[in-house]
Amino acid sequence: MRVFASAPGKITLFGEHAVVYGEPAITYTIDKRVHVHLKVRGDSTIKIEARGLQVGGAKLVISGEKIEAEVDAQSLMESLSYVHKALEIASEYCGESKGVEILVESELPVGAGLGTSAAVSAATIAAFCRAMEKELSLEELARLAHRVEIEVQGSASPMDTMTVTYGGLLYIKPAERSFERLEWGSLPVVVGFTPRESNTGKLVAGVRRLVEREEDLIMEIIRTIGKLVDRAREALEEENLEMVGSLMNVNHGLLEALGVSTVKLNEMVYAARAAGALGAKLTGAGGGGCMVALCPGREEEVKASLRAVGGIPLECTFSSRGVEVRVVG
Ligand code: MEV
Repeated sequence: MRVFASAPGKITLFGEHAVVYGEPAITYTIDKRVHVHLKVRGDSTIKIEARGLQVGGAKLVISGEKIEAEVDAQSLMESLSYVHKALEIASEYCGESKGVEILVESELPVGAGLGTSAAVSAATIAAFCRAMEKELSLEELARLAHRVEIEVQGSASPMDTMTVTYGGLLYIKPAERSFERLEWGSLPVVVGFTPRESNTGKLVAGVRRLVEREEDLIMEIIRTIGKLVDRAREALEEENLEMVGSLMNVNHGLLEALGVSTVKLNEMVYAARAAGALGAKLTGAGGGGCMVALCPGREEEVKASLRAVGGIPLECTFSSRGVEVRVVG
């Protein structure tokens, strides 16, 4: 049987990192997706291949105890470990372990902070469960994909996996593992990309070390981010884009205080603001990766300003489509 599943990339508008400590966040799914093609084999061998934007490919073959890997890019190898773990967790859920061939194709730069690891995990689980003809609710899918992120990264909030599973503009309540949908069409945002210098697991661990060292001080910053998310929600509901932008700037400053920004991300954020963005911040775990600028009527100027400092503007718009899966033969 052949199954095709896909899941969207996402932007965190507000609240990354603080969400790991139970604070709310606001996320937004985009039209660029991760595609997973799965074919059930007649033996127990697992073959996983990934092709990413601008970075070549990576291949992993697991046959009994034997593991062979061919990699052009480390970020793709990391993405294969999410697929591998997702297959393990999905097999356990289905009570069946079968050999499969998986091809992952991403329309997004892998590991850029746009939720590709969550998308890869959710789409792989959805594809495997459909191939095994096992019922899977969205709630269960989000829960299993979250387990994949925890096991691969060491620690993760349910934000990314919940967002890519359901799709939309979401106000995430991590403590309750739930969300509320916010009503809005497409926000006029531009996303800028710069290669990643670190990965999510290391960045989350870095913030954890700060919390352990200076708990009172750092938890104050984290709680302030949570309050800011609630103000941002009100501003979005009031369609007050000026306020949304200004809160993005504050959120970026607080993320910098948590040590997750980089010189290149800061340059892109400042360039976008100078080009007329109402607000700009890093998005996702940081350490390089992506920033997002809110820039109604100034999209082209902001893209040019990002290029001028060596950033890569990514074309993406809002899409409320979450995980999709279908049998193709
Ligand atoms: C990563 O996309 C977002 C973080 O908040 C980590 C998490 O929520 O698990 C940095």
